[in-house]
Amino acid sequence: MRKDLLSVSDLNSEEIRSLIADAIDLKAQGWLSSLSQKVLAIMFEKPSLRTRVSFEVAMRQLGGQTVYLSPTEVGLGQRESVPDVARVLSRYVDVIATRAFSHRTLEVLSAYSGVPVINALSDEEHPCQALADLLTIYEKKRELRGLTLAYIGDGNNVANSLMLAASLVGMNFRIASPAGYSVNEDLFNQSQDYAAIHGTELVYTEDTGLAVSGADIVYTDVWTSMGQEAEVEERRRVFAGYQVNSRLLSLAREGAIFMHPLPAHHGEEVADGILDSPASVVFDQAENRMHLQKALLKQMLGGLEIPLAGYR
Ligand code: CP
Ligand code: NVA
Repeated sequence: MRKDLLSVSDLNSEEIRSLIADAIDLKAQGWLSSLSQKVLAIMFEKPSLRTRVSFEVAMRQLGGQTVYLSPTEVGLGQRESVPDVARVLSRYVDVIATRAFSHRTLEVLSAYSGVPVINALSDEEHPCQALADLLTIYEKKRELRGLTLAYIGDGNNVANSLMLAASLVGMNFRIASPAGYSVNEDLFNQSQDYAAIHGTELVYTEDTGLAVSGADIVYTDVWTSMGQEAEVEERRRVFAGYQVNSRLLSLAREGAIFMHPLPAHHGEEVADGILDSPASVVFDQAENRMHLQKALLKQMLGGLEIPLAGYR
């Protein structure tokens, strides 16, 4: 694995499969002490429930320590330059997980940090979410290759990472978004290269029904991401036809699952009741963030000898 995880494309399909395999083993093993002399800094420019808590608990379950730096504390690029923060922080800790407004901040952090940097969400990607989502899909479907994931709504950070991840492991990926709100074009082209290797489908459409028809997984995320609050009214108007509701879900394959990274805006991108429906796996998704991140920390920091079982 490369030093950092800024993008899903920092990994190849074998590395993703190895993370999933390790996560399955670590989930079964519970608490360990192998990272007892390691410290993770969690430095966030935006709020978080899942990412912060899952990283903190993941590190503790591996015997390690964490330091949390809230949005107001560091003033990344304001109180102190990003290169200086990177050089100082990496003298104290063994790995840094950062949530940043700009993906560029992460690239600069990575360039100047002596320790691994993990993207805990940027405006471009949310790789930890996508990798954990593959774990959840594997647990529910017992396979990844050949499945079809339909993403409905904003082509945002979550969509970009999910598209890369799905295409890398041989899943079909369809996204339905309004014109002008789809995924990053460069990342779409990169995903197309991955899809060509597996001979899988990578589709962009404005038609939600077309995307969901026969899909194994229906996935959505908020219409307005953190940092876009000024656009909330416009986005409600633009995305009005992009809600996942029971009518849309009925077009998916029988037994299809519903996924959402959370937090959800009930009544906007997802109709009331869908999160609690039998198809929903959203709370397993949230839990699996922790297990996948344990695998990631273990592989980045080393020191664990875990017999691999299960997923291949
Ligand atoms: N899904 C996710 O990243 O949630 P948080 O913003 O609460 O961390
Ligand atoms: N797209 C959302 C994801 C939150 C986990 C955001 O960036 O706010």
